[in-house]
Amino acid sequence: MIRQVRIMGDPVLREEALPVRDVHHPAVRSLVADMWDTMADEGGIGIAAPQVGVPLRIICFGLNEAQSADRPAVPRTVLINPEIEYLGEDKEDGWEGCLSVPGMRARISRYVRIRYRGVDLEGNPIERTAEGFHARVVQHEYDHLCGILYPMRVTDWSSFGFTKAMFPEQSETDE
Ligand code: NI
Repeated sequence: MIRQVRIMGDPVLREEALPVRDVHHPAVRSLVADMWDTMADEGGIGIAAPQVGVPLRIICFGLNEAQSADRPAVPRTVLINPEIEYLGEDKEDGWEGCLSVPGMRARISRYVRIRYRGVDLEGNPIERTAEGFHARVVQHEYDHLCGILYPMRVTDWSSFGFTKAMFPEQSETDE
């Protein structure tokens, strides 16, 4: 079921999300199914539970096929109670959008390499290292669980604007 995406200004997006205590609870399974439906409907690459109004520590992300050299495929993943560890100091800038900030883009600096951990819907542990775009997507979604939207990380304001003005040839996809 597609849920309404909360947009910047909605207080739920500024909250610190709460850990999921029982991953086997049926409400968690239906929430995750709805997050996937909502993400697909919006053409997103990731979504966090607060974006559908639920302040719980759940993120979903994935890109089945590479969109460009900068946007390779990312494994389709549900990550509950995620943790991120930064591997090294290296950061790089890349374009980001967000379903909660529709129609806009900015260049944001993120760590290049991370390790992330969490559990899936069965409670099985997930632990992966990621770099580049994959690492960026996870950092962006993780930020949602901390009440952070990407505009709060803008440092180069000349790169922040409406997609249709900055990339008139591109179709609209937000994440
Ligand atoms: Ni987002």
